[in-house]
Amino acid sequence: MKDTDSNTEKAWADLEERCENCTKCPLYKTKINTVFGVGNKSADLMFIGEAPGESEDKQGEPFVGASGQLLDRYLRAVGLKRCEVYIGNILKCRPPHNRDPLPEEEDACINFLREQLTLIKPKILVCLGRVAAKRIISPDFRITAEHGKWFVKGEYEVCAVYHPSALLRDASKREDMLRDMMDIAEKYRETAR
Ligand code: URA
Repeated sequence: MKDTDSNTEKAWADLEERCENCTKCPLYKTKINTVFGVGNKSADLMFIGEAPGESEDKQGEPFVGASGQLLDRYLRAVGLKRCEVYIGNILKCRPPHNRDPLPEEEDACINFLREQLTLIKPKILVCLGRVAAKRIISPDFRITAEHGKWFVKGEYEVCAVYHPSALLRDASKREDMLRDMMDIAEKYRETAR
């Protein structure tokens, strides 16, 4: 049974406020909104992307732009609701022109994700794309060769799938993505309490 008491609520509010006011890297100077994360705060399944893009920065919510709409289609295709999972990112502020996060930006931001994981206690983590996979699974992770493979990292079962924006650029990857997402949904149903 997961903790949903008022202490947990306070811990979430405190975390969100610290994240909102963070100045540990320069990205706070150029962001419009902090993109903290969204979804079920006691989800067993959490998706982790790399960083907010333009639409996410404007709306303050992860994966709401074109790549988010494609992610939503995959979730629906495998019978998952966006509201039953949690969706977050490695970085909470948008890098200018959507460039890759810098290592020092990831280092500055990663504790917010760690704290989210501590509060949510998911069982399954899905890295959306290479950047999240390199940070969470292994620095030498190769997305083309290793997408869809399962790893155990501490208390989590973890895998990575193609980033939805890669699927927008290269439709030939979509079949693999559907297979990976079906496998993730199956593991989720096996694992769910
Ligand atoms: N790409 C990401 O990695 N995260 C988002 O929230 C949006 C696009």
